Amino acid sequence: MPDTTRRALIAGGLLAGAASGVSFGGMSPLRGDAANPQDESYWRGVAAQYDISKAFINLEYGNFGAVARQVMAAYVRHTERVNRLGAWYARREFAGDAARIRELVASELGVLPEEIVFTRGATEALQALIGGYRALRPGDSVLYADLDYDAMQSAMRWLAQRRGVTVDRIDLPEPATRESMLEAYSRALQANPKIRLLLLTHLSHRTGMVMPVAEIAALARARNVDVILDSAHAWGQISFNLVSLGVDFVGLNAHKWIGAPLGVGVMWVRRSRIGDIEEFMGAHDFTAHPDIRDRVHTGTSNFASLLALEDALAFHRAVGPQSKIGRLRYLRDRWSEPLRHNENVEILTPAEPQSVGGITSFRLRNHRGESANAKLAQVLLERHGIFTVHRAGLAQGPCVRVTPNVFTSSAQIDALSKALTDISRS
Ligand SMILES: Cc1ncc(COP(=O)(O)O)c(C=O)c1O
Repeated sequence: MPDTTRRALIAGGLLAGAASGVSFGGMSPLRGDAANPQDESYWRGVAAQYDISKAFINLEYGNFGAVARQVMAAYVRHTERVNRLGAWYARREFAGDAARIRELVASELGVLPEEIVFTRGATEALQALIGGYRALRPGDSVLYADLDYDAMQSAMRWLAQRRGVTVDRIDLPEPATRESMLEAYSRALQANPKIRLLLLTHLSHRTGMVMPVAEIAALARARNVDVILDSAHAWGQISFNLVSLGVDFVGLNAHKWIGAPLGVGVMWVRRSRIGDIEEFMGAHDFTAHPDIRDRVHTGTSNFASLLALEDALAFHRAVGPQSKIGRLRYLRDRWSEPLRHNENVEILTPAEPQSVGGITSFRLRNHRGESANAKLAQVLLERHGIFTVHRAGLAQGPCVRVTPNVFTSSAQIDALSKALTDISRS
Protein backbone atom coordinates (compact mmCIF):
# COMPACT_ATOMS: atom_id res chain seq x y z
CA MET A 1 0.00 0.00 0.00
CA PRO A 2 1.38 3.48 -0.77
CA ASP A 3 2.60 5.25 2.37
CA THR A 4 0.24 8.17 1.82
CA THR A 5 -2.76 5.85 1.83
CA ARG A 6 -1.48 3.90 4.80
CA ARG A 7 -1.00 7.18 6.68
CA ALA A 8 -4.48 8.38 5.69
CA LEU A 9 -6.06 5.12 6.79
CA ILE A 10 -4.18 5.06 10.07
CA ALA A 11 -4.91 8.74 10.70
CA GLY A 12 -8.55 8.06 9.99
CA GLY A 13 -8.51 5.06 12.29
CA LEU A 14 -9.42 2.73 9.42
CA LEU A 15 -6.49 0.39 9.74
CA ALA A 16 -6.72 0.39 13.49
CA GLY A 17 -10.46 0.03 13.02
CA ALA A 18 -9.95 -3.22 11.13
CA ALA A 19 -8.48 -4.71 14.27
CA SER A 20 -10.63 -3.01 16.87
CA GLY A 21 -13.65 -2.15 14.73
CA VAL A 22 -14.04 1.23 16.43
CA SER A 23 -13.12 4.34 14.49
CA PHE A 24 -13.27 5.97 11.06
CA GLY A 25 -11.64 8.96 9.47
CA GLY A 26 -12.96 12.41 10.24
CA MET A 27 -15.58 11.15 12.67
CA SER A 28 -15.71 10.50 16.34
CA PRO A 29 -14.93 6.89 17.13
CA LEU A 30 -17.72 4.49 16.34
CA ARG A 31 -19.00 2.13 18.93
CA GLY A 32 -19.74 -0.47 16.43
CA ASP A 33 -19.48 -4.10 15.70
CA ALA A 34 -18.18 -4.70 12.18
CA ALA A 35 -19.28 -8.32 12.40
CA ASN A 36 -22.88 -7.37 13.10
CA PRO A 37 -24.73 -6.55 9.87
CA GLN A 38 -27.58 -5.03 11.88
CA ASP A 39 -25.46 -2.55 13.81
CA GLU A 40 -26.79 0.58 12.09
CA SER A 41 -24.43 2.93 13.88
CA TYR A 42 -21.44 0.99 12.61
CA TRP A 43 -22.83 0.94 9.07
CA ARG A 44 -23.71 4.63 9.21
CA GLY A 45 -20.02 5.14 9.93
CA VAL A 46 -19.14 3.14 6.84
CA ALA A 47 -21.69 5.09 4.78
CA ALA A 48 -20.07 8.33 5.93
CA GLN A 49 -16.94 7.29 4.02
CA TYR A 50 -18.78 7.68 0.70
CA ASP A 51 -20.11 10.68 -1.23
CA ILE A 52 -23.39 9.36 -2.57
CA SER A 53 -26.27 11.34 -4.08
CA LYS A 54 -29.20 11.74 -1.75
CA ALA A 55 -31.48 12.80 -4.61
CA PHE A 56 -32.79 9.24 -4.97
CA ILE A 57 -32.37 5.83 -3.33
CA ASN A 58 -29.86 4.02 -5.48
CA LEU A 59 -30.55 0.29 -5.53
CA GLU A 60 -28.74 -0.28 -8.84
CA TYR A 61 -25.22 -1.08 -7.72
CA GLY A 62 -25.24 -4.09 -10.05
CA ASN A 63 -24.04 -1.76 -12.79
CA PHE A 64 -20.82 -0.68 -11.11
CA GLY A 65 -19.68 -0.01 -7.57
CA ALA A 66 -18.90 3.09 -5.56
CA VAL A 67 -15.45 4.38 -4.65
CA ALA A 68 -14.95 5.44 -1.02
CA ARG A 69 -13.89 9.05 -0.47
CA GLN A 70 -10.32 8.32 0.50
CA VAL A 71 -9.88 5.87 -2.37
CA MET A 72 -11.14 8.63 -4.67
CA ALA A 73 -8.61 11.02 -3.14
CA ALA A 74 -5.86 8.46 -3.78
CA TYR A 75 -7.09 8.04 -7.34
CA VAL A 76 -6.82 11.79 -7.90
CA ARG A 77 -3.29 11.76 -6.43
CA HIS A 78 -2.32 8.89 -8.74
CA THR A 79 -3.80 10.71 -11.74
CA GLU A 80 -1.82 13.83 -10.86
CA ARG A 81 1.39 11.85 -10.42
CA VAL A 82 0.98 10.11 -13.77
CA ASN A 83 0.23 13.42 -15.44
CA ARG A 84 3.18 15.11 -13.74
CA LEU A 85 5.68 12.43 -14.76
CA GLY A 86 4.23 11.57 -18.18
CA ALA A 87 6.14 8.90 -20.09
CA TRP A 88 8.72 8.85 -17.29
CA TYR A 89 6.06 7.21 -15.16
CA ALA A 90 5.00 4.79 -17.91
CA ARG A 91 8.56 3.81 -18.82
CA ARG A 92 10.34 3.84 -15.47
CA GLU A 93 7.89 3.48 -12.62
CA PHE A 94 4.74 1.70 -13.73
CA ALA A 95 6.27 -1.78 -14.03
CA GLY A 96 7.30 -1.78 -10.37
CA ASP A 97 3.90 -0.54 -9.22
CA ALA A 98 2.08 -3.04 -11.44
CA ALA A 99 4.19 -5.94 -10.15
CA ARG A 100 3.49 -4.97 -6.54
CA ILE A 101 -0.27 -4.68 -7.17
CA ARG A 102 -0.26 -7.97 -9.05
CA GLU A 103 1.28 -9.70 -6.02
CA LEU A 104 -1.22 -8.05 -3.73
CA VAL A 105 -4.21 -9.10 -5.83
CA ALA A 106 -2.86 -12.62 -6.23
CA SER A 107 -2.51 -12.97 -2.49
CA GLU A 108 -6.01 -11.54 -1.99
CA LEU A 109 -7.42 -14.12 -4.43
CA GLY A 110 -5.21 -16.94 -3.11
CA VAL A 111 -3.53 -17.53 -6.49
CA LEU A 112 -0.09 -17.05 -8.01
CA PRO A 113 0.93 -13.64 -9.39
CA GLU A 114 1.92 -15.24 -12.70
CA GLU A 115 -1.64 -16.56 -13.04
CA ILE A 116 -3.25 -13.13 -13.30
CA VAL A 117 -3.27 -10.24 -15.72
CA PHE A 118 -5.13 -6.95 -15.31
CA THR A 119 -7.81 -5.90 -17.75
CA ARG A 120 -10.18 -2.94 -17.98
CA GLY A 121 -13.02 -5.04 -16.64
CA ALA A 122 -14.56 -8.50 -16.67
CA THR A 123 -15.69 -8.07 -20.29
CA GLU A 124 -12.15 -7.73 -21.59
CA ALA A 125 -10.97 -10.71 -19.53
CA LEU A 126 -13.84 -12.99 -20.54
CA GLN A 127 -13.84 -12.07 -24.22
CA ALA A 128 -10.11 -12.83 -24.36
CA LEU A 129 -10.70 -16.17 -22.62
CA ILE A 130 -13.62 -17.21 -24.83
CA GLY A 131 -11.98 -16.02 -28.05
CA GLY A 132 -8.57 -17.37 -27.08
CA TYR A 133 -9.61 -20.82 -25.86
CA ARG A 134 -7.71 -22.86 -28.40
CA ALA A 135 -8.66 -26.46 -27.60
CA LEU A 136 -11.88 -26.43 -29.65
CA ARG A 137 -12.07 -28.41 -32.89
CA PRO A 138 -14.66 -28.15 -35.69
CA GLY A 139 -17.61 -30.33 -34.72
CA ASP A 140 -17.18 -29.75 -30.97
CA SER A 141 -19.97 -28.01 -29.08
CA VAL A 142 -20.01 -25.19 -26.54
CA LEU A 143 -22.71 -24.40 -23.99
CA TYR A 144 -24.10 -21.26 -22.37
CA ALA A 145 -27.30 -20.32 -20.54
CA ASP A 146 -29.96 -17.63 -20.72
CA LEU A 147 -28.77 -16.13 -17.44
CA ASP A 148 -25.26 -15.45 -18.78
CA TYR A 149 -24.19 -11.90 -19.64
CA ASP A 150 -25.18 -10.77 -23.14
CA ALA A 151 -21.66 -9.92 -24.36
CA MET A 152 -20.41 -13.34 -23.23
CA GLN A 153 -23.36 -15.06 -24.91
CA SER A 154 -22.48 -13.39 -28.21
CA ALA A 155 -18.82 -14.33 -27.77
CA MET A 156 -19.89 -17.97 -27.29
CA ARG A 157 -22.10 -17.81 -30.41
CA TRP A 158 -19.23 -16.27 -32.37
CA LEU A 159 -17.21 -19.43 -31.67
CA ALA A 160 -19.31 -21.08 -34.38
CA GLN A 161 -17.57 -18.87 -36.96
CA ARG A 162 -14.22 -18.76 -35.25
CA ARG A 163 -13.81 -22.44 -34.35
CA GLY A 164 -16.45 -24.27 -36.41
CA VAL A 165 -18.28 -25.48 -33.29
CA THR A 166 -21.99 -25.87 -32.69
CA VAL A 167 -23.47 -23.74 -29.95
CA ASP A 168 -25.97 -25.02 -27.36
CA ARG A 169 -27.97 -22.80 -25.05
CA ILE A 170 -30.00 -23.87 -22.04
CA ASP A 171 -32.82 -22.00 -20.39
CA LEU A 172 -32.38 -22.19 -16.64
CA PRO A 173 -35.48 -23.14 -14.68
CA GLU A 174 -37.57 -21.38 -12.07
CA PRO A 175 -37.84 -21.74 -9.21
CA ALA A 176 -34.06 -21.53 -9.12
CA THR A 177 -32.38 -23.74 -6.53
CA ARG A 178 -28.93 -25.31 -6.32
CA GLU A 179 -30.53 -28.63 -7.20
CA SER A 180 -32.47 -27.30 -10.17
CA MET A 181 -29.37 -25.53 -11.55
CA LEU A 182 -27.22 -28.63 -11.16
CA GLU A 183 -29.85 -30.74 -12.80
CA ALA A 184 -30.18 -28.34 -15.75
CA TYR A 185 -26.42 -28.33 -16.44
CA SER A 186 -26.16 -32.06 -15.85
CA ARG A 187 -28.95 -32.77 -18.33
CA ALA A 188 -27.43 -30.46 -20.94
CA LEU A 189 -23.99 -32.05 -20.64
CA GLN A 190 -25.47 -35.53 -20.88
CA ALA A 191 -27.62 -34.61 -23.84
CA ASN A 192 -24.64 -33.51 -25.92
CA PRO A 193 -21.40 -35.43 -25.35
CA LYS A 194 -19.68 -33.16 -27.91
CA ILE A 195 -19.71 -30.22 -25.49
CA ARG A 196 -16.11 -29.27 -24.67
CA LEU A 197 -16.53 -25.75 -23.27
CA LEU A 198 -19.07 -24.30 -20.83
CA LEU A 199 -19.60 -20.64 -19.97
CA LEU A 200 -20.82 -20.35 -16.38
CA THR A 201 -21.83 -17.21 -14.51
CA HIS A 202 -20.78 -17.30 -10.86
CA LEU A 203 -23.39 -14.80 -9.62
CA SER A 204 -26.11 -13.88 -12.06
CA HIS A 205 -26.46 -10.21 -12.90
CA ARG A 206 -30.02 -10.96 -13.99
CA THR A 207 -31.38 -12.60 -10.82
CA GLY A 208 -28.58 -12.65 -8.21
CA MET A 209 -28.50 -16.47 -8.23
CA VAL A 210 -25.16 -17.82 -6.99
CA MET A 211 -24.43 -20.95 -8.98
CA PRO A 212 -23.11 -24.13 -7.39
CA VAL A 213 -19.90 -23.58 -9.36
CA ALA A 214 -17.75 -26.31 -7.80
CA GLU A 215 -20.45 -28.96 -8.36
CA ILE A 216 -21.13 -27.88 -11.95
CA ALA A 217 -17.38 -27.74 -12.63
CA ALA A 218 -17.02 -31.30 -11.27
CA LEU A 219 -19.80 -32.49 -13.60
CA ALA A 220 -18.06 -30.75 -16.49
CA ARG A 221 -14.63 -32.13 -15.63
CA ALA A 222 -16.01 -35.68 -15.50
CA ARG A 223 -17.04 -35.17 -19.13
CA ASN A 224 -13.82 -33.51 -20.20
CA VAL A 225 -15.48 -30.10 -20.48
CA ASP A 226 -13.64 -26.90 -19.56
CA VAL A 227 -15.43 -24.08 -17.77
CA ILE A 228 -14.90 -20.36 -18.34
CA LEU A 229 -16.25 -18.69 -15.23
CA ASP A 230 -17.78 -15.22 -15.35
CA SER A 231 -17.05 -13.93 -11.85
CA ALA A 232 -17.80 -10.30 -12.69
CA HIS A 233 -20.02 -9.99 -9.63
CA ALA A 234 -18.50 -12.43 -7.17
CA TRP A 235 -15.30 -10.77 -5.92
CA GLY A 236 -16.32 -8.78 -2.86
CA GLN A 237 -20.00 -9.77 -2.92
CA ILE A 238 -19.73 -13.40 -1.79
CA SER A 239 -17.11 -15.71 -0.24
CA PHE A 240 -15.29 -18.13 -2.49
CA ASN A 241 -11.92 -19.73 -2.95
CA LEU A 242 -10.90 -19.39 -6.57
CA VAL A 243 -8.55 -22.35 -6.64
CA SER A 244 -10.96 -24.81 -5.08
CA LEU A 245 -13.85 -23.96 -7.41
CA GLY A 246 -12.31 -26.44 -9.82
CA VAL A 247 -12.35 -24.13 -12.84
CA ASP A 248 -9.28 -23.00 -14.72
CA PHE A 249 -10.34 -19.81 -16.55
CA VAL A 250 -11.97 -16.87 -14.75
CA GLY A 251 -12.77 -13.20 -15.43
CA LEU A 252 -13.32 -10.89 -12.44
CA ASN A 253 -14.11 -7.26 -11.77
CA ALA A 254 -12.57 -4.93 -9.21
CA HIS A 255 -14.83 -1.99 -10.08
CA LYS A 256 -18.02 -3.59 -8.82
CA TRP A 257 -17.66 -4.91 -5.25
CA ILE A 258 -14.02 -4.22 -4.40
CA GLY A 259 -14.54 -0.48 -4.83
CA ALA A 260 -11.77 0.35 -7.32
CA PRO A 261 -12.40 3.15 -9.82
CA LEU A 262 -13.87 2.12 -13.17
CA GLY A 263 -11.50 0.31 -15.49
CA VAL A 264 -10.05 -2.54 -13.43
CA GLY A 265 -10.65 -6.24 -14.00
CA VAL A 266 -8.64 -9.42 -13.67
CA MET A 267 -8.14 -12.51 -15.80
CA TRP A 268 -7.07 -15.59 -13.87
CA VAL A 269 -5.86 -18.78 -15.54
CA ARG A 270 -4.54 -21.75 -13.58
CA ARG A 271 -0.81 -21.88 -14.32
CA SER A 272 -0.87 -25.28 -16.03
CA ARG A 273 -3.58 -24.03 -18.43
CA ILE A 274 -2.16 -20.70 -19.61
CA GLY A 275 -0.96 -22.30 -22.84
CA ASP A 276 -4.57 -23.28 -23.65
CA ILE A 277 -5.43 -19.63 -24.26
CA GLU A 278 -3.94 -18.19 -27.44
CA GLU A 279 -1.69 -15.16 -27.33
CA PHE A 280 -3.97 -12.19 -28.01
CA MET A 281 -3.71 -11.43 -31.75
CA GLY A 282 -0.21 -12.84 -31.85
CA ALA A 283 1.13 -10.88 -28.86
CA HIS A 284 4.63 -11.90 -27.81
CA ASP A 285 5.63 -9.10 -25.48
CA PHE A 286 6.93 -11.35 -22.73
CA THR A 287 9.79 -13.75 -22.99
CA ALA A 288 8.58 -16.45 -20.63
CA HIS A 289 6.11 -18.64 -22.49
CA PRO A 290 3.37 -19.14 -21.90
CA ASP A 291 2.95 -15.82 -20.08
CA ILE A 292 -0.59 -14.79 -19.13
CA ARG A 293 0.22 -11.15 -19.92
CA ASP A 294 0.32 -12.10 -23.61
CA ARG A 295 -3.30 -13.31 -23.37
CA VAL A 296 -4.65 -9.74 -23.17
CA HIS A 297 -3.32 -6.66 -24.90
CA THR A 298 -4.97 -3.54 -23.55
CA GLY A 299 -2.55 -0.92 -24.79
CA THR A 300 -2.01 2.31 -22.87
CA SER A 301 -4.79 2.46 -20.29
CA ASN A 302 -5.63 4.33 -17.13
CA PHE A 303 -2.63 3.74 -14.83
CA ALA A 304 -4.35 5.57 -11.99
CA SER A 305 -7.32 3.16 -11.85
CA LEU A 306 -4.98 0.23 -11.37
CA LEU A 307 -2.91 2.14 -8.81
CA ALA A 308 -6.07 2.95 -6.86
CA LEU A 309 -6.90 -0.75 -6.71
CA GLU A 310 -4.25 -0.99 -4.00
CA ASP A 311 -6.04 1.72 -2.01
CA ALA A 312 -9.44 0.14 -2.68
CA LEU A 313 -8.20 -3.18 -1.34
CA ALA A 314 -6.84 -1.48 1.77
CA PHE A 315 -10.23 0.12 2.34
CA HIS A 316 -12.05 -3.14 1.57
CA ARG A 317 -9.91 -4.97 4.13
CA ALA A 318 -10.34 -2.21 6.69
CA VAL A 319 -14.15 -2.39 6.49
CA GLY A 320 -13.83 -6.17 6.46
CA PRO A 321 -14.59 -8.40 3.48
CA GLN A 322 -16.75 -10.74 5.55
CA SER A 323 -18.53 -7.82 7.20
CA LYS A 324 -19.37 -6.35 3.79
CA ILE A 325 -20.70 -9.69 2.60
CA GLY A 326 -22.77 -10.03 5.79
CA ARG A 327 -24.22 -6.53 5.42
CA LEU A 328 -25.17 -7.06 1.78
CA ARG A 329 -26.87 -10.32 2.67
CA TYR A 330 -28.71 -8.69 5.56
CA LEU A 331 -30.00 -5.85 3.37
CA ARG A 332 -31.09 -8.29 0.71
CA ASP A 333 -32.87 -10.57 3.17
CA ARG A 334 -34.56 -7.61 4.83
CA TRP A 335 -36.69 -6.78 1.78
CA SER A 336 -36.88 -10.04 -0.12
CA GLU A 337 -37.60 -12.67 2.51
CA PRO A 338 -40.83 -11.12 3.88
CA LEU A 339 -41.99 -10.50 0.29
CA ARG A 340 -41.50 -14.17 -0.52
CA HIS A 341 -44.79 -14.68 1.37
CA ASN A 342 -46.61 -12.09 -0.73
CA GLU A 343 -48.64 -14.05 -3.26
CA ASN A 344 -48.40 -11.25 -5.82
CA VAL A 345 -44.59 -11.17 -5.86
CA GLU A 346 -42.10 -13.70 -7.24
CA ILE A 347 -38.61 -13.57 -5.73
CA LEU A 348 -36.23 -15.08 -8.25
CA THR A 349 -33.46 -16.32 -5.98
CA PRO A 350 -33.95 -19.15 -3.51
CA ALA A 351 -33.95 -18.74 0.26
CA GLU A 352 -30.91 -21.10 0.39
CA PRO A 353 -28.08 -19.14 2.07
CA GLN A 354 -25.39 -20.42 -0.33
CA SER A 355 -27.36 -19.26 -3.36
CA VAL A 356 -27.51 -15.51 -2.82
CA GLY A 357 -25.35 -12.44 -2.26
CA GLY A 358 -26.58 -8.84 -2.32
CA ILE A 359 -28.45 -8.85 -5.65
CA THR A 360 -31.98 -10.17 -5.92
CA SER A 361 -34.59 -9.78 -8.64
CA PHE A 362 -38.34 -10.02 -8.51
CA ARG A 363 -41.38 -9.65 -10.69
CA LEU A 364 -45.05 -9.21 -9.97
CA ARG A 365 -46.76 -12.54 -10.39
CA ASN A 366 -47.67 -13.14 -14.02
CA HIS A 367 -46.04 -9.87 -15.14
CA ARG A 368 -43.58 -11.46 -17.54
CA GLY A 369 -43.52 -8.86 -20.29
CA GLU A 370 -40.50 -6.59 -20.69
CA SER A 371 -42.60 -3.44 -20.80
CA ALA A 372 -44.45 -4.42 -17.59
CA ASN A 373 -41.12 -4.75 -15.77
CA ALA A 374 -39.70 -1.56 -17.29
CA LYS A 375 -42.88 0.18 -16.11
CA LEU A 376 -42.47 -1.27 -12.62
CA ALA A 377 -38.93 0.14 -12.36
CA GLN A 378 -40.27 3.46 -13.61
CA VAL A 379 -43.05 3.49 -10.98
CA LEU A 380 -40.50 2.72 -8.26
CA LEU A 381 -38.45 5.70 -9.39
CA GLU A 382 -41.18 8.20 -10.13
CA ARG A 383 -43.50 7.48 -7.21
CA HIS A 384 -41.08 6.25 -4.58
CA GLY A 385 -37.71 7.75 -5.54
CA ILE A 386 -36.11 4.29 -5.76
CA PHE A 387 -33.75 3.60 -8.64
CA THR A 388 -33.63 -0.02 -9.85
CA VAL A 389 -33.40 -1.57 -13.32
CA HIS A 390 -35.49 -4.04 -15.23
CA ARG A 391 -33.65 -6.99 -16.75
CA ALA A 392 -34.70 -8.94 -19.83
CA GLY A 393 -33.05 -11.99 -21.37
CA LEU A 394 -34.37 -14.57 -18.90
CA ALA A 395 -36.18 -17.36 -20.68
CA GLN A 396 -38.74 -17.42 -17.86
CA GLY A 397 -39.49 -13.72 -18.28
CA PRO A 398 -38.07 -10.30 -17.40
CA CYS A 399 -37.79 -8.97 -13.88
CA VAL A 400 -36.64 -5.99 -11.82
CA ARG A 401 -33.21 -6.15 -10.20
CA VAL A 402 -32.48 -4.70 -6.76
CA THR A 403 -28.86 -4.14 -5.75
CA PRO A 404 -27.99 -2.33 -2.52
CA ASN A 405 -24.45 -1.45 -1.50
CA VAL A 406 -22.79 -1.65 1.91
CA PHE A 407 -23.73 1.96 2.67
CA THR A 408 -27.44 1.45 1.88
CA SER A 409 -29.40 2.01 5.07
CA SER A 410 -32.05 -0.26 6.52
CA ALA A 411 -34.46 2.67 6.22
CA GLN A 412 -33.86 2.80 2.46
CA ILE A 413 -34.53 -0.92 2.22
CA ASP A 414 -37.69 -0.48 4.24
CA ALA A 415 -38.80 2.20 1.79
CA LEU A 416 -38.45 -0.40 -0.96
CA SER A 417 -40.42 -2.98 1.05
CA LYS A 418 -43.21 -0.53 1.62
CA ALA A 419 -43.27 0.53 -2.03
CA LEU A 420 -43.41 -3.07 -3.22
CA THR A 421 -46.12 -4.00 -0.75
CA ASP A 422 -48.20 -1.03 -1.95
CA ILE A 423 -47.57 -1.80 -5.63
CA SER A 424 -48.40 -5.49 -5.16
CA ARG A 425 -51.80 -4.53 -3.72
CA SER A 426 -52.74 -2.11 -6.48
C1 LIG B 1 -22.31 -11.23 -15.14
C2 LIG B 1 -21.51 -10.13 -15.77
N1 LIG B 1 -20.48 -10.45 -16.56
C3 LIG B 1 -19.71 -9.51 -17.12
C4 LIG B 1 -19.93 -8.19 -16.90
C5 LIG B 1 -19.07 -7.18 -17.57
O1 LIG B 1 -18.40 -6.39 -16.65
P1 LIG B 1 -17.70 -5.03 -17.15
O2 LIG B 1 -18.75 -4.28 -17.92
O3 LIG B 1 -17.35 -4.35 -15.91
O4 LIG B 1 -16.57 -5.41 -18.00
C6 LIG B 1 -20.99 -7.79 -16.11
C7 LIG B 1 -21.29 -6.36 -15.88
O5 LIG B 1 -22.28 -5.97 -15.34
C8 LIG B 1 -21.80 -8.78 -15.50
O6 LIG B 1 -22.83 -8.46 -14.72
